[in-house]
Amino acid sequence: MEDAKGFAVAFARTGHLDYFSADIANWMSIPMMIAPMAVPLGFAIYAVSALKELVDIPVVAFGRINDPYQAEKILADGHADLIGMARELICDPEFVVKAEQGRADEIRQCVACNQGCIGKLLVLDSICCIHSPAAGREKTLGSGTLKAAPKAKKVVVVGGGPAGLKAAEIAATRGHRVTLLEKGSELGGQIALATKAPHREELGGIVRYMAKAVERLGVDVRLNTAATAEMVLGEKPDAVVVATGSVPAAFPFGVTGKTRVMKGREVLEGAGPVGERVALLDLDCHFEGGGIAEALAERENVVQVITPVFFAGADIDAGSLILHRQRLAAGQRARDRSAGPGRQSLRIQRHALPLRRNVSRARHPRTRVHAFLQPRLLADRRL
Ligand SMILES: Cc1cc2nc3c(=O)[nH]c(=O)nc-3n(C[C@H](O)[C@H](O)[C@H](O)COP(=O)(O)OP(=O)(O)OC[C@H]3O[C@@H](n4cnc5c(N)ncnc54)[C@H](O)[C@@H]3O)c2cc1C
Ligand SMILES: Cc1cc2nc3c(=O)[nH]c(=O)nc-3n(C[C@H](O)[C@H](O)[C@H](O)COP(=O)(O)O)c2cc1C
Ligand code: SF4
Repeated sequence: MEDAKGFAVAFARTGHLDYFSADIANWMSIPMMIAPMAVPLGFAIYAVSALKELVDIPVVAFGRINDPYQAEKILADGHADLIGMARELICDPEFVVKAEQGRADEIRQCVACNQGCIGKLLVLDSICCIHSPAAGREKTLGSGTLKAAPKAKKVVVVGGGPAGLKAAEIAATRGHRVTLLEKGSELGGQIALATKAPHREELGGIVRYMAKAVERLGVDVRLNTAATAEMVLGEKPDAVVVATGSVPAAFPFGVTGKTRVMKGREVLEGAGPVGERVALLDLDCHFEGGGIAEALAERENVVQVITPVFFAGADIDAGSLILHRQRLAAGQRARDRSAGPGRQSLRIQRHALPLRRNVSRARHPRTRVHAFLQPRLLADRRL
């Protein structure tokens, strides 16, 4: 910070700058630059504010600013002269127009998942956004491309997860009459579950946005309604969208003895005691497995993550992964202290053998497995 202040003053003195727009951190500390959702909103304002005190040219605020009221407060408190947004404008390029028109509650707020934008860029893919299908496809799906349908139709959407909600939102925006059937008591599908993992709460913003949107657009949302083919046809729809999500895959290995086999999501659903030591078979390599591992680690379970790829969480973007691994490592130390000698068991040998051969060479010789958990999904083709 002291070095940066020195540079800032020196640059400002040259008289060649119109304004300062600075990041903090560098690629070695990327979680503090393109901060994932585990880092609080406005986390960099302290640094922006320090910069503003030093120089007399305008300073642009940056970092996890995704709300017009938050932005106004940063300016009103004198921390900066202008507001800069990177991910928020990828997520909702109409942010400024909506704020100006008093439609703040229609703004899609970036949830800092880093999945579609920087996550894709870092693997040399074209960027997208998990919250906005138009991101990266602005020419075909962006602002102004959505036209009213020539004829309003009756559309039935089955499933109130993100896919069903987005389909309902877009269909209703185009003027169709939409009914959405959801068998659960709330909207959101698996996202509601994903938010239960530590530091993943902000994903819920995606569901809150779409739930508000379908309400505003007059979609007939029917909760606690498990759709059947007869029920759907009874609505006499012109079009049906089936968005019923996925179901957990069967566990791929035989497990003997008293070891329990559980589905990963049962942990987040609040299933009773899982067992002290847990092997998590993670074929997802993203935050479903990672979140479950963290949730278990928080409960003082000893977790061994087994994965077919090079390392657990291999598909997570660099910034989110670093913080995720740090949290797991901190938990691991706590658990290591509580795991005394004499708790070893040969049982793992039997259970681990097929895993070693088929899935991974990773094996913790002292892990006695009480439960296997597997986050992996298959498309739900039951309807
Ligand atoms: C713990 C966890 C963490 C995750 N983390 C991430 C992440 O970080 N990033 C990411 O991109 N993805 C993540 N995912 C995956 C993501 O949640 C799913 O890809 C996404 O929810 C799929 O959306 P969907 O709408 O297709 O299906 P779902 O979310 O499964 O929604 C389907 C909906 O259909 C309803 N339904 C089913 N049958 C019927 C019926 N007959 N009648 C009426 N309703 C019915 C269900 O109740 C459900 O609400 C995670 C998933 C989990 C479980
Ligand atoms: C897809 C993407 C590409 C980025 N590219 C650069 C870059 O080339 N140089 C840079 O200094 N910062 C880059 N950034 C960082 C942003 O400028 C910004 O400082 C950071 O994302 C935090 O702001 P935000 O919370 O508004 O996204 C990039 C961010 C994203 C999401
Ligand atoms: S992909 Fe995630 S982090 Fe990137 S802009 Fe969209 S919501 Fe924000």
